[in-house]
Amino acid sequence: MILLEHNISLKSLNTFAIDVNAENLIAIYHEAGLFEVIAKKLCPIRILGGGSNILLTGDLVGYTLKNEIKGIEIIDEDENQIMIKVGAGEKWHQFVMWSISHNLGGIENLSLIPGSVGAAPMQNIGAYGVEQESVFHSLNAVHMANGEKKLFFKDECNFGYRESIFKKELKDQYFITHVNYILRKKDHSLQLDYGAIRDTILKNGIESPDVQNISDAVIEIRKSKLPDPNLIGNAGSFFKNPVIQKTLYHSLKNIHPEIPCYPISETTVKVPAGWLIEKSGFKGKTFNKIGVHKDQALVLVNYGGGCGKDILDLAFEIKKVVKDKFKIDIEPEVNIW
Ligand code: EPU
Repeated sequence: MILLEHNISLKSLNTFAIDVNAENLIAIYHEAGLFEVIAKKLCPIRILGGGSNILLTGDLVGYTLKNEIKGIEIIDEDENQIMIKVGAGEKWHQFVMWSISHNLGGIENLSLIPGSVGAAPMQNIGAYGVEQESVFHSLNAVHMANGEKKLFFKDECNFGYRESIFKKELKDQYFITHVNYILRKKDHSLQLDYGAIRDTILKNGIESPDVQNISDAVIEIRKSKLPDPNLIGNAGSFFKNPVIQKTLYHSLKNIHPEIPCYPISETTVKVPAGWLIEKSGFKGKTFNKIGVHKDQALVLVNYGGGCGKDILDLAFEIKKVVKDKFKIDIEPEVNIW
């Protein structure tokens, strides 16, 4: 059985809180429901995950599937590690909290990231020096056209920086039902080197941190920098951090000696898009009901009642000014629908 609703507002189903309608919204609670939908050969179909990395620019015609497949199940374990199968409709942060409560290590740096477990491999979520691919084992998916089940192993997913095969070659082709992760039960390799994690741990008076302490620190840092989507509509980083040639970086450094960068290869570096946008004068600017966040210029916000097209126009304007000023192309990280 599937639950089908007509002309439903998606406002509460996207973290930008854009108020557009889905012509037909179908909640998928288990594989059987998905097979029922595939058998009906409905068209067009779109798959909505946690709605945290998406900008909706208009009503969605056709059929929108909402992944509600839940469950956290232990598949295998030995004395060192554990394999867990997670329903793709689970909230990512709740999965992180579950793992912390069982003292399982590997995703503590990915605390408080909004969105669903199914979206995590789709865009290979990352934060504070860790990407989900480091704990990913495989995922179960169903082909939307022919209903075939497929188990994708890590080397088939083409994970990159906020990228996977599901955002590129296989875009819109598969419905991810479950994701299988391997977490550590002991000898946790804690990542404290990125950003303010170590300083926050020290400030909190902790000498030998555990996964819970790292998670607490990440939550504290994220809360201090990033707007809470329950209070201000946003989809986290709107743009990806661009990778540029070192030659361009050095010529920019002559003009802007303080320009930050992270080494990527012999010839390239990554530059924080937030810095480029701030230096282009957009940080904290509001334009009617939308704007650029005051503490993190990489985050575009909807203060309430803003529409997706206006946010997209603002993104284009930012992209243009950054290109004119720095000769760097910045590309959206969020999916535009
Ligand atoms: N910066 C500025 N001004 C700003 C924002 C940033 O100058 O307004 C500069 C600062 O130099 C800062 C540097 O950018 O030191 C990096 O900033 P931050 O540590 O906040 O990280 P980010 O590169 O802006 C990335 C991810 C975030 C993730 C953080 C922490 C991307 C697109 N974004 O942001 O991910 O939380 O690192 O790991 O890679 C997300 O994907 O939605 C997201 C929030």
